[in-house]
Amino acid sequence: MKRVAVLISGRGSNLGSLIEAAGGSYKIILVISNVEGVAGLDRAQAANIPTQVIPHGGKTRESFDGEIDAALRAANAEIVVLAGFMRILSDGFVRGWEGKLINIHPSLLPAYKGTRVHERVIEAKEALSGASVHFVVPELDAGPVIAQASVPVYPADSPQILADRVLDVEHKLYPEALRLLADGKVKLQNGLAVFT
Ligand code: GAR
Repeated sequence: MKRVAVLISGRGSNLGSLIEAAGGSYKIILVISNVEGVAGLDRAQAANIPTQVIPHGGKTRESFDGEIDAALRAANAEIVVLAGFMRILSDGFVRGWEGKLINIHPSLLPAYKGTRVHERVIEAKEALSGASVHFVVPELDAGPVIAQASVPVYPADSPQILADRVLDVEHKLYPEALRLLADGKVKLQNGLAVFT
């Protein structure tokens, strides 16, 4: 079983789905939040998973990332999963976890990187949106995609309604993608997600 650490900043609904699906290929050994008092921490504690709060305020990106890295190494994490973690990680941190660091983003990447995704999808009158799990590389939301799921976008959608529809598929997609990585069925090789 691979030792997985999850980084969060908020509600942690994806963390919840990863906790539920844990057991075969991976176990969650640590949850780190950069924000105190968030619901995701309660979810972890309810599942008896150790938690740490590492606030980012008043620190350089490098020193914040250094603290996270030290906590991950101390816990012997083998895979690091970003689940609603709303900080950009430094190039050094990302390189240190290359091939072992994944993120979920609420769009069909490479479309709609960054923030305000659902607002922009609706403004552009897209018919489809979705979610992507990808390897993290230094460039934001640009890493090779491991798995994607799509949902329809309806003319009457508000950003919140669309976010909820996307979130629903995120909860199925993320555990499946993590399992692929934990089982060694997908690897980051020469900048590509390679499936074996
Ligand atoms: C999810 O929709 C996730 O895709 C998104 O934040 C939400 C977190 O929800 N992540 C990003 O936008 C990353 N750029 P959760 O805390 O309930 O899992």
